[in-house]
Amino acid sequence: MHANTSTESGETRRPLLEVNDLTVEFRTEAGIAQAVNGVSFTLAEGEILGLVGESGSGKSVTAMSLLGLVPQPPARLRKGQALFDGRDLLTLERRELRRVRGGQVGVVFQDPMTALNPVQKVGKQIGEVLRLHNREMSPRELTTRAVDLLSLVGVPQPDVRVRQHPHELSGGLRQRVMIAIAIANNPRLLIADEPTTALDVTIQAQVLMMLRKAQQETGAATLLITHDLGVVAQMAERVIVMYAGRIVEQGPVREIFARPRHPYTVGLLDSLPRLDQDDEQLRPIRGNPPSLLNPPDGCAFAARCGLRQGRDRCLTERPELVEVGDGRLSACHFHDELVDPDAGGPVAEPAEQRAADRETVEAVDE
Ligand SMILES: Nc1ncnc2c1ncn2[C@@H]1O[C@H](COP(=O)(O)OP(=O)(O)OP(=O)(O)O)[C@@H](O)[C@H]1O
Ligand SMILES: [Mg+2]
Repeated sequence: MHANTSTESGETRRPLLEVNDLTVEFRTEAGIAQAVNGVSFTLAEGEILGLVGESGSGKSVTAMSLLGLVPQPPARLRKGQALFDGRDLLTLERRELRRVRGGQVGVVFQDPMTALNPVQKVGKQIGEVLRLHNREMSPRELTTRAVDLLSLVGVPQPDVRVRQHPHELSGGLRQRVMIAIAIANNPRLLIADEPTTALDVTIQAQVLMMLRKAQQETGAATLLITHDLGVVAQMAERVIVMYAGRIVEQGPVREIFARPRHPYTVGLLDSLPRLDQDDEQLRPIRGNPPSLLNPPDGCAFAARCGLRQGRDRCLTERPELVEVGDGRLSACHFHDELVDPDAGGPVAEPAEQRAADRETVEAVDE
């Protein structure tokens, strides 16, 4: 089952993580929510893979399931496999998983305030993670290494900060501490779930830069979850787009930005702020994702899709995720029509307007 992953440069790298058919549901009072449905992907050694999609699309449940961090119940892992270096993470005992987390796998959460211990000094928290995997290190060595790590992620005066509590640090510094903890044991895999969403825009850029530096320093393969396609463009080589618990498009970032092959991706890109547009002109995707309690029979995006008009197939037959060339996958019956960049997109998008906008962008680009 070890499919190789092609990169943009055409070379192949061995997959470090191979997720197959991950399916997770939540039992709620209202019924069973199909949170993650048949998700499969690979992540190569050293690769940065973006995972995007609207709120509730299943990004966090996908990532946190791999680490045993989705509480069961209410969640239930229905099926799937997550081979990390050949071992299935989904079958590991809690204790084994705890060893993997903070060791071979580092995690950066969205909100460092809830992930960090408020009553423990920063240096101590970094030291505890280090000690889990370096039993022979003395307290002094642990502190020295903690200071080095803080310095690596750009924390000013690391020898002072190491003795402070999380509440004495700004949000941006706290997130850098989280990154320091995540890379403390030289992980082979980094999972970052919305690492910059809670931060101011200027701080976001700095923290992303540090995340990138940390990634380069450790060479860790990285799964970067964000709902910001700008972050994906800046950081990732490949991207997975999720919608209503399923992957709807996947492929190299450059190709997908140039020519998305799923109407949902078209919509996401159109709702991205662009330098040549005022904010008023942003086009959010109209409507809402479907209920995960009662997903529609056909395509989950059909109700919001501009390509669907008058086509019953979208309502009756769920599109499979298929290869569409250039190392890309799309789950749209009519992905061929998106080869023409002015076709498709979400509903109520006048095609002429889109074409006119595109001409403006091209003119600006030149
Ligand atoms: N604790 C929970 N109880 C019940 N259902 C849940 C719970 N957590 C998640 N879900 C279900 O799983 C779905 C996916 O949630 P998930 O947190 O993975 O979304 P997400 O893509 O990470 O969204 P966001 O961008 O808001 O973080 C939700 O739409 C919801 O139906
Ligand atoms: Mg999330």
